[in-house]
Amino acid sequence: MNLLAKLPTIAATIYRHLYRDGSSVGVIDSNKDWSANFCQMLGYDDPLFVELMRLYLVIHSDHEGGNVSAHTSHLVGSALSDPYLSFSAAMAGLAGPLHGLANQEVLVFLTKLVGDIGHNYTEKQLREWVWNHLKSGQVVPGYGHAVLRKTDPRYTCQREFALKHLPNDPLFKLVSNLYKITPDVLLEQGKAKNPWPNVDAHSGVLLQHFGMTEMSYYTVLFGVSRALGCLSQLIWARGMGLPLERPKSHSTEGLMKLAKAAKSSNTQQ
Ligand code: MLT
Repeated sequence: MNLLAKLPTIAATIYRHLYRDGSSVGVIDSNKDWSANFCQMLGYDDPLFVELMRLYLVIHSDHEGGNVSAHTSHLVGSALSDPYLSFSAAMAGLAGPLHGLANQEVLVFLTKLVGDIGHNYTEKQLREWVWNHLKSGQVVPGYGHAVLRKTDPRYTCQREFALKHLPNDPLFKLVSNLYKITPDVLLEQGKAKNPWPNVDAHSGVLLQHFGMTEMSYYTVLFGVSRALGCLSQLIWARGMGLPLERPKSHSTEGLMKLAKAAKSSNTQQ
């Protein structure tokens, strides 16, 4: 609870020192909510940005605990390491490009796309660009998910926010046009189990629109939100006395049996 309460202040202090004049984050106004206070500490007073942050902080907090950061804090916490250690381990996982850093990768991808074809492209040009990108062995960041098999609902609510508040933003239009063509291209390519966009495909564009352009801060922002999921689960894990976590072990004999079973099922197929 302490860590949760302190995180926005710590994160905002880092922001002000790295990207602003290093001035104080000011005092917390207990009549305002989490988002309003956090935005004020960061130095943003646009009510629409506060509303966006309200959405952002909720949708990034967690969904079902299986992702790398939530799972890591659970694993480390299961050794009875304190919540500060458990959460910092979670953040080390969130920093990976296949996890929280993906929203930054999406912006790098979009910037490259705009650099190549600008904002006045046809659907055909966009499709060709995505195909060439895939053919060069790269992926479309922000598309696909380990478990979801449809458009991530967190993508959809960010899209709804953008349609309502920034429908003419050129980067949003690009994200929207990519949504029209990319799933088909990925299905045609035949590699993706899930060709639909996830939360990371949208978030950066919204932050950019409101002037938060410092991409290397995005994972910190994600972390402030993810803390709510990780740490509430840690409280439950302690309350329920959950055991030390460990992956299943196999003896050599057990592994041989598994390998034989896999071989015979492959032969039958
Ligand atoms: C997340 O929210 O961490 C991502 O959707 C990744 C995941 O759930 O595995």
